[in-house]
Amino acid sequence: MFGFRRDAQGRAMLSGSLLSDLLAEARVATPAYLYDVDGISHETRELTQALADSRHLVAYAVKANSAGTIVRTVAEQGAGADVVSGAELRVALGAGVAPDRIVMSGVGKSDDELDLALSSKIRSIQVESLEEIERVAARAQALSQAARVSLRIKPDVAIDSHAHVATGHDEAKFGIAQQDLGAAWDRLDRSPEALRAVGVSSHVGSMLAAIEPYLEAAGRVCEVARARRAAGKPLEFVNFGGGFGIDYGSGPTARPAEFARAALWLLGQQGLHDLQLIVEPGRSLVGPYGVLVARIVQLKQSGSQRFAVLDAGMNDLIRPALYGARHRIEPLSEPPLPPAWRVVGPVCESADDFGVYDLGESPADLVAIRDAGAYGFVMASQYNGRRLPSEVFVTRGRVSSISESPGLDAWVARRLQA
Ligand SMILES: Cc1ncc(COP(=O)(O)O)c(C=O)c1O
Repeated sequence: MFGFRRDAQGRAMLSGSLLSDLLAEARVATPAYLYDVDGISHETRELTQALADSRHLVAYAVKANSAGTIVRTVAEQGAGADVVSGAELRVALGAGVAPDRIVMSGVGKSDDELDLALSSKIRSIQVESLEEIERVAARAQALSQAARVSLRIKPDVAIDSHAHVATGHDEAKFGIAQQDLGAAWDRLDRSPEALRAVGVSSHVGSMLAAIEPYLEAAGRVCEVARARRAAGKPLEFVNFGGGFGIDYGSGPTARPAEFARAALWLLGQQGLHDLQLIVEPGRSLVGPYGVLVARIVQLKQSGSQRFAVLDAGMNDLIRPALYGARHRIEPLSEPPLPPAWRVVGPVCESADDFGVYDLGESPADLVAIRDAGAYGFVMASQYNGRRLPSEVFVTRGRVSSISESPGLDAWVARRLQA
């Protein structure tokens, strides 16, 4: 379609010229996130279709991007939701996700959040510790209902990702250690009126380029599920988690649908084909379809260094500062050509640095920071007294809706009141 180009894996990307037109059409200031809603829809459909059987569930990890338009879009394509807070649960329900297609994760769910999950009758609360099981039992008793619970196990698999996105190793704060699983099942079985053990879950971490580590962690989940069934106990599902990587410019990764097909194969191979399979992807469904458009506010030559200072910083997109992540950055109006510039944000932190990119002899004023659809806006802050970015949703190459930045007046007023 006009205004789109293909990335190395054949995904349609909004071209620089279309991004300029869309920004003008939306009449929002930079920095602004623009999302290709059709791309998200297509990727989700490919994944839900790969799972073929409607018993299985793609629980979209809402934390990756909680915009209502996006949660509604993935829900329309057959996805449910994985939420990590009461507020995310409210977004999922408000966006039309059926409660029995929602699971809740998180190491520190408050009593209020547990109460909301219980009264909403979601598919499962994924408990992360023996201590949490006690609290879930207490809340279920207080509300006179049985909690549907799955055990999030620590698969004890280390992955080749940044330490901040590896969650399945033995020292991680997430999940229940293998040696505590017996006690966890016993505790669930002791209070059948308050606790119903329905599943086994894990999430090994994020940014998996290849399928093998995912299957290794999933294999641990299957072992636990098989042992549980061998003990004569019923089980409804296994949840292998999310973590499917995307190409941030360093090379292709396996597609979400390929992860899902491999997961189904494993389920059959482990003799668990009658169980429901849940997968929890976030990044892979939205990351490639979001672009942060920023303006160069200052070019600066400092000795031999050339800096291009943007109006977008770590407060808008924290991934480079937090994980050392590299995004593709390119001028909107021309191909990326030498010389290279160090692209930085305006925030008073040395970590506010996106890296070195070819922007040409005299860079034009707008740049696209690509693959910013996941863990972008959701992590934005107003640090340094900066505006939150606007969000622009694009359907069939046109602006379909806008969530405009709230501006700075409210921030100034709150800080003065504090
Ligand atoms: C429990 C859980 N499930 C799913 C995800 C989604 O991971 P990703 O966005 O890498 O697919 C996360 C991410 O942190 C998570 O913590």
